[in-house]
Amino acid sequence: MRRIPARPLRSTGIVIAALLALTPAAHGQPAAAASRLQPLDVIYVPTPDTVVAKMLSMAKVGPGDVVYDLGSGDGRIVIAAVKDFGAARGVGYELDPVRNHEARENAAAKGVSDRVQFIAEDLFEADLSGATVITTYLLPALNERLVPRFRALRPGTRIVTHNYDLTADWKPVERVVVDGHIVYAFVVPKR
Ligand SMILES: C[S@@+](CC[C@H](N)C(=O)[O-])C[C@H]1O[C@@H](n2cnc3c(N)ncnc32)[C@H](O)[C@@H]1O
Repeated sequence: MRRIPARPLRSTGIVIAALLALTPAAHGQPAAAASRLQPLDVIYVPTPDTVVAKMLSMAKVGPGDVVYDLGSGDGRIVIAAVKDFGAARGVGYELDPVRNHEARENAAAKGVSDRVQFIAEDLFEADLSGATVITTYLLPALNERLVPRFRALRPGTRIVTHNYDLTADWKPVERVVVDGHIVYAFVVPKR
């Protein structure tokens, strides 16, 4: 019987091991997130730290708050919410596995891994019912798509958006310009 030469087999094994090491599953993410199947709705542009701080102070984040960032990038908003503003928990929804990996590393470096969670799911599918504060840095049309879901949240939930407001008939309670960036704060009204 013809034998399969040992050398190609060994190199195939090395290639498979290298590919596995690059998958999100190797970085502690669920297998479903191992490949990002859908395109991003907006590219990654981080919010400057001064603007992050303003967003969280406008939302009056404090103990007892659960802060969700929709499209959480490197995790800076939810990490600052728990680390600098004392929020109970932070949750980021982010489709890009590279960003989620960075976010988990950043959370570990700041010692807050046990209070933040980065979920590799489409932000439009996110369960927002646990949030007391929601932050976004998305495009106007994406904010507008979220409005029906925001209106259905618990009255009193605070929403803070970076650079773009929500929709014409929902006026912000506050609008501030920080280093050339606009921050809008909204509160879900009583129904
Ligand atoms: C402009 S960045 C903002 C990042 C972060 N929130 C910040 O302010 O620093 C938008 C983020 O949304 C993510 N994103 C785009 N479409 C998404 C989707 N449908 N679901 C979850 N995340 C998405 C991108 O990968 C990107 O990291």
